[in-house]
Amino acid sequence: MKKLIAPSILAADFANLQRDVEMVNNSEADWFHIDVMDGHFVPNISYGMPVIKAIKKHAKKPLDVHLMIEKPERYIEEFAKVGADIITVHYESTVHLNRTLTQIENVGCKAGVVLNLTTPVSVLEDILPKCYMVLIMSINPGFGGQKFEEITYQKVKKLRKMITDQQLNTLIEIDGGVTNKNAKDLIDAGADVLVSGSYVFNSENPTATIADLKEICN
Ligand code: DX5
Ligand code: ZN
Repeated sequence: MKKLIAPSILAADFANLQRDVEMVNNSEADWFHIDVMDGHFVPNISYGMPVIKAIKKHAKKPLDVHLMIEKPERYIEEFAKVGADIITVHYESTVHLNRTLTQIENVGCKAGVVLNLTTPVSVLEDILPKCYMVLIMSINPGFGGQKFEEITYQKVKKLRKMITDQQLNTLIEIDGGVTNKNAKDLIDAGADVLVSGSYVFNSENPTATIADLKEICN
C-alpha cells in the first residue's frame, strides 16, 4: 500500500483557511488531519464543529479528525455530521472504548484509537480487529511544533508485529514532530500514515514539502 501524508490543519493560517485547504487539495497529500482540543484532555483549545464544517465545504480529500477531548462519545454524531471521514479517539479519554468505536462505525465513519506517548501498544491487543487505524503520538498531545520523541520507533515496531500476528490491515499513523529527518525511519519501522503540521505549513513551499515527504515515504 502507498504510504499516506496528512498535513495537520492546526498549523494552517486560520485567517486564510480556504487558501490552505486548496493548497492541500492541489498537493500530493492524502488526508486533512484535524485536531480537536477541549482544554481538559489536553491543556490547549483548538477549534470545533463550525470550523470543520467550513473545511469540509472546500476539502476534496478525507477528513481525519483527531479528538483530544474528554468523553468523546458525547460528540461522535456531531463530528460525523460536519464531515469527518475518520474519527480517532484517545484510549485515555473514554472508559468504554469498544462502545465508542461502535458509535463511530454506526455513524458511517472509520474508527481509530490514539495512544499517548506513555500508553503501551499492548493495551490494544484485544481491540485491534476493531481499529481501522491506530495513531501513535510521537509527542505529548496539545501543541504543534514540538520535538519528536524517539520512543515512538519501538512502539511502531511492536504494533506492526501485533497487526501482522493477527493478520489485520489496521493502519499505523504517527503524529508529532514529523519531518523529512524521521519520515523514512518511521515508514521502515512500520508506519502507514504520517501527520505533519508545522514542518509543512512553516516551510517556504508547503506543496513542495508535501511532495518531498510523499517521495521519501514511497
Ligand atoms: C498535536 C496534534 C498534532 C499537531 C502536529 O497534539 O495532534 O496533529 O498538529 O504538529 P507538528 O507536526 O507541528 O508536531
Ligand atoms: Zn493530531
